[in-house]
Amino acid sequence: MSNDRVRDLSNGALGRRLGLPRIPVLRRYSPGQPLLDGPALVSGTGRFAKPISALVTEEGAEVVDEVGEEKLAAVVVDLTDAVSLDDLAAARAVLAPAVRKLAPSGRLLLLGPSPAEAVSRVGSASSASVSRVGSASSASVSRVGSASSASAGVEAAAVAQALDGLVRTIAKELRDGATANLLVVDAEAAPAAVDSAVRFFLSARSAYVDGQAVRVGVPVGSPQDPPAIDSPTERPLDGRIAVVTGAARGIGAAIADTLARDGARLVVVDIPAAGENLAKVANRTGGVALQLDITAADAPSRLVAFLRERFGRLDLLVHNAGITRDKLLVNMDAERWDSVLNVNLRAQLRITEALLGSDLLGDGSRIVSVSSQSGIAGNRGQANYVASKAGIIGMVRALAPVVGARGVTINAVAPGFIETEMTARMPVTTREGGRRVNSLRQGGLPVDVAETIAWLGQAASGGVNGQIVRVCGQSMIGA
Ligand code: NAI
Repeated sequence: MSNDRVRDLSNGALGRRLGLPRIPVLRRYSPGQPLLDGPALVSGTGRFAKPISALVTEEGAEVVDEVGEEKLAAVVVDLTDAVSLDDLAAARAVLAPAVRKLAPSGRLLLLGPSPAEAVSRVGSASSASVSRVGSASSASVSRVGSASSASAGVEAAAVAQALDGLVRTIAKELRDGATANLLVVDAEAAPAAVDSAVRFFLSARSAYVDGQAVRVGVPVGSPQDPPAIDSPTERPLDGRIAVVTGAARGIGAAIADTLARDGARLVVVDIPAAGENLAKVANRTGGVALQLDITAADAPSRLVAFLRERFGRLDLLVHNAGITRDKLLVNMDAERWDSVLNVNLRAQLRITEALLGSDLLGDGSRIVSVSSQSGIAGNRGQANYVASKAGIIGMVRALAPVVGARGVTINAVAPGFIETEMTARMPVTTREGGRRVNSLRQGGLPVDVAETIAWLGQAASGGVNGQIVRVCGQSMIGA
């Protein structure tokens, strides 16, 4: 019996007799599991299709180029070169039969251009060719030419944005735990830049990430040799030093377990009152426990000193610790406001600043912050919490270009309804509402948030910077 009694009922004998809709059991990652458990259709004329086919083959799955009888574990369509409505129509022709064949927990992944870039890309490509014609003939041709190149750019931007809507719609139409996501790829990004994102979105690690668009650009930092890891899929964080705040329980403990499983060496942080649980997490992950109230005046300097002494560097910082003190704004006193803002936002700002001011973060280091769906949508009775979680999004976006200049990325995850002690204590109607208003019709698990953080924490994820990745099963709240 899971926490989700309604799912147990719907999927059981009684549910079948009553004709209740089945709530899918999602395929989740466990070590040794293949990337895909069936063939993948890889299609499209963009420059990523071939390398992605090679990746899928290398991971042991069959690649097919047309839909047959067999169910498909994944459908990947590279539309990064789509510029016209004809290209969009061609995409429909590929997608419609492929989606019909998608297996339970199957993966649909589209790659598309960014709308903003599409304008300039098509504009500059065709204005270059027009000006060639123009210089050979009259000036009036070049005026007509630039008008038509501008409209071609606008059409390309419209098509790029259409892909976003298309993915969000397919995600809503898929069944049985299948997901659909979009990688918005910068024009200059080399095929290798999308590698870690493609692996994540095709794998069972992304079970609860659905209907999302994530931008992938040229990786930050200096080009590095790929880390010497025997199996990049099994232990992608091998040897990386990671700090997780609020790691004594809940989502933070799941993050610690997942990072350790992927090979990271951990420093787990929590308040002294949670010391016993923190020690358990440290023991089972082979990590080091650091009892620290992250709001203390000397918390940033203590963390920096601890890391410098023990490891001399930091590869992954996970800002997870967070609290709630709910009240309607009209009843919100300064104490409630300050306590939540101090833990959830001020401590993150101070600790990040101190680490960036040290020599501990460098090329390949990653920062991931835990925001919340509430920070995107707002939530009644949570003005302090929402302000803090929205503030995290602002922090991430502002810092991304700054840290990117030194080879560091910063991203946030925004969990939706996650099955934790907190959500288990909710009144049943609120809980059921939260669980079902998403395309996968269930709550996520702490491990789903952890898997997303583990992916963003990889050295190979340098192309993903300043992104807010929702882990919400395509929740309708704030979408
Ligand atoms: P939790 O309450 O189970 O765990 C939070 C941990 O942070 C605790 O171990 C606590 O002792 C620690 N902590 C609190 N104040 C601290 C401080 N001053 N210094 C150091 N550690 C401190 O919470 P949960 O549910 O695991 O949430 C983790 C994160 O995920 C939070 O940031 C939360 O806002 C966020 N989140 C949770 C969702 C959910 O459905 N549970 C949904 C969206 C976001």
